[in-house]
Amino acid sequence: MLQTQTRTRTDVIYDRLRPFIPEIEWGVHAPLIEAIEAWKTKRNAVVLAHNYQTPEIFHGVADRSGDSLALARMAAETTSDVIVLAGVHFMAETAKLLNPNKTVLIPDTGAGCSLADSITGADVRLLRERYPGVPVVTYVNTSAEVKAESDVCCTSSNAVAVVESLGADRVIFLPDEYLGQWVRTQTDVELILWQGHCEVHERFTAHDLREARTRYPGVTLLAHPECPPEVLAEADFVGSTSAMSHYVSSRKPERVLMVTECSMSDNVQVDNPGTEFVRPCNLCPHMKQITLPKILRSLETMTHQVEVDEEIARRARRAVERMLEVA
Ligand code: 13P
Ligand code: SF4
Repeated sequence: MLQTQTRTRTDVIYDRLRPFIPEIEWGVHAPLIEAIEAWKTKRNAVVLAHNYQTPEIFHGVADRSGDSLALARMAAETTSDVIVLAGVHFMAETAKLLNPNKTVLIPDTGAGCSLADSITGADVRLLRERYPGVPVVTYVNTSAEVKAESDVCCTSSNAVAVVESLGADRVIFLPDEYLGQWVRTQTDVELILWQGHCEVHERFTAHDLREARTRYPGVTLLAHPECPPEVLAEADFVGSTSAMSHYVSSRKPERVLMVTECSMSDNVQVDNPGTEFVRPCNLCPHMKQITLPKILRSLETMTHQVEVDEEIARRARRAVERMLEVA
């Protein structure tokens, strides 16, 4: 008699991930995913994952996923006791600011960000002295200390709306110079910029995009606004990671190049098998610090708990909440 094999939850997940993860590798991931699910229940925990997380995290254990703005909103809404942030440190810190009484865990404290490292609270205070009365808009890719010195935060998906919400002629926009230069093309507000850059997006060149158009005829080029201006000038669409993902699912281009971090293409391709993804991409070494074994360990040991000094948190929270009120 033929025996029907019971398919597990991880078998079902693997059906979708098969093109991206070899079977032998899935054999390592599957028990980790099962163990993480069990610990999530035990801890009443939720895993929030950024769009740059690897497919086994993004499609395997994330309860919710999205861009930086979506993650902040999800963190503000969650009813779970514990939030595991599968992303980088500033994202976990933002989740903590919005949930001072919950436990927020980052699976690896080394998951930093070159933009967050480019500026300190003291730098913002000096800028305020140099430009008295000019409001400060700060990208969420910063420390809580920098957010605390700011009037309002923004992400790549709401930067223009946040800048314009202030009703000011001039705004100090920190710290991403390229995002700021892109916002300048979308608004009449004068922006004073800082020279912070994302180490992943600054490596793309206009030549890369021109070459892609020649090599992959008909390709649609989607670029993140952290890329240099000459790269954005070659792109068909500029938007946050979630905006790029939405572009693919709603417009269904035949062939696409996402000018951003590598895992994005894998994650979006899973849900859009009809689109061909070409992949000259760059890896974020910080995002790649987060792995399934570290997420599991994080839940088992309740480490690493994100803490923010109370006074800094109070001021930083105000800047994040103002952003959420705008867009
Ligand atoms: P978004 O997902 O908000 O577009 O940000 C991209 C990024 O580089 C996050 O670190
Ligand atoms: Fe920071 Fe760039 Fe990595 Fe995002 S991709 S975490 S902005 S270094």
